[in-house]
Amino acid sequence: MQTSTLVSAEDKRWRLIRATMRRHGFAANALIETLHTVQEAFGYLDEEALRYVAKELRIPLSRVYGVATFYNHFAMKPQGEHHCVVCLGTACYIRGGSRVLEAIEKAAQVKAGETTPDKKLSLLVARCVGLCWLAPVALFDDEVASEATPEEVAQKVGEWVDHVSS
Ligand code: FES
Repeated sequence: MQTSTLVSAEDKRWRLIRATMRRHGFAANALIETLHTVQEAFGYLDEEALRYVAKELRIPLSRVYGVATFYNHFAMKPQGEHHCVVCLGTACYIRGGSRVLEAIEKAAQVKAGETTPDKKLSLLVARCVGLCWLAPVALFDDEVASEATPEEVAQKVGEWVDHVSS
């Protein structure tokens, strides 16, 4: 497993989101689908993403927040001190993404979509973070873990949580 830092300007996830909006001609009725793409790419919706979508679709930010918080499907910014996003898109799934997720769930004793009781770690799932050639991929805060193995991610998570199981 190698890690490298995500560089926003080159972050392919934004390109995926922009492609969804473009497909709908940047129309306001693309909002829900665009939010789905944000969640699939990042694992959650945060203020930066909501502001970006509002600006590009020319929708008031308050309405974007309203939609994002109305549907249970959408997860807002993770509550944990750290967050880990495991990609389960096709390329990552085929190359062992689900085993990576299971290893983190076991090591940190937390389920996908949840935060550990000590608020150290939020675990999220994405459907493609745009780095398929590095599959399976997990994001640890702003670090990309490429060709991740269950053993390595469990060790990484162990640096963040105290109650690691073997
Ligand atoms: S499927 Fe995981 S990065 Fe594309």
